[in-house]
Amino acid sequence: MLLIDGKKIAAEIKAEIAAQTAAIAAKGGKVPHLAAVLVGHDGGSETYVAHKIKDCAEVGFRSSLVRFDDDVSEERLLAEVARLNDDSDVDGFIVQLPLPEHISEQKVIAAINPRKDVDGFHPENIGRMVAGLPAFLPATPYGITELIRRYRIPTAGRSCVVLGRSNIVGRPVSILMSQKEMNATVTVAHSRTKDIEQLCKSADIIIAALGHPGFVRANMVKDGAAIIDVGTTRVADPAAKNGWRLKGDVDFDAVAPKCAWITPVPGGVGPMTRVALLKNTLLAVSKNEI
Ligand code: GUN
Repeated sequence: MLLIDGKKIAAEIKAEIAAQTAAIAAKGGKVPHLAAVLVGHDGGSETYVAHKIKDCAEVGFRSSLVRFDDDVSEERLLAEVARLNDDSDVDGFIVQLPLPEHISEQKVIAAINPRKDVDGFHPENIGRMVAGLPAFLPATPYGITELIRRYRIPTAGRSCVVLGRSNIVGRPVSILMSQKEMNATVTVAHSRTKDIEQLCKSADIIIAALGHPGFVRANMVKDGAAIIDVGTTRVADPAAKNGWRLKGDVDFDAVAPKCAWITPVPGGVGPMTRVALLKNTLLAVSKNEI
């Protein structure tokens, strides 16, 4: 069994991005600037955004954070999106999800200039990705495919079961895995799928993105399979310093001995997701490329 070290690969990619950024700066070029919009004080969202800001500093990007209370109006948030669209110093920006119930996420995402949509959530970027055109790819699916590439996990003609159909992970990764570069035969499974155990057992590759800790058990995994665990649920852990730890969608201890490759949680997909956003931001500076 080979443990997929997302932390190490992410550090390598980050070093590449930092070198490219330093070269741009040395030539007097535009240093990438990522902005993040955060509404409210959700614990997970606060952590994600803090990481994004820290990552920017580490590779030499500029960053800015725009915060709103969770009673901000949709109109005010849309006005901020319009301001960021028009700010030529900002190369790319994200609006951290989820948003409070009274705000339409679809409306906010649709208002983002697709050329600044470094999350790859705008319908134009989703459409371009589906059509196989250059696009900002959503961070987690991009991170997953990059791990598969760098570890040379065979995908052509292999069966790939994606657990979960979210707009952020399951659905887009299923599309990337079925496209010509990866050439996998993909099945998307979800809460209404029948006989999910048997389906998983037949898979050469399982990408688990359900948000259901420990869902994939040893009896659901074929010997020699590749397992990508996207789950990051906080579970209570009195021994941990915050009182919780992250748990993946895979029962790691039982499954790991059976498979050929597996991602740990934490330290697998998570660091790659973070680095993907940096890659997209760098790409956003040379907007003509997309
Ligand atoms: N919430 C969970 N994941 C993400 C992400 O990748 N981008 C944004 N904007 N919000 C999220």
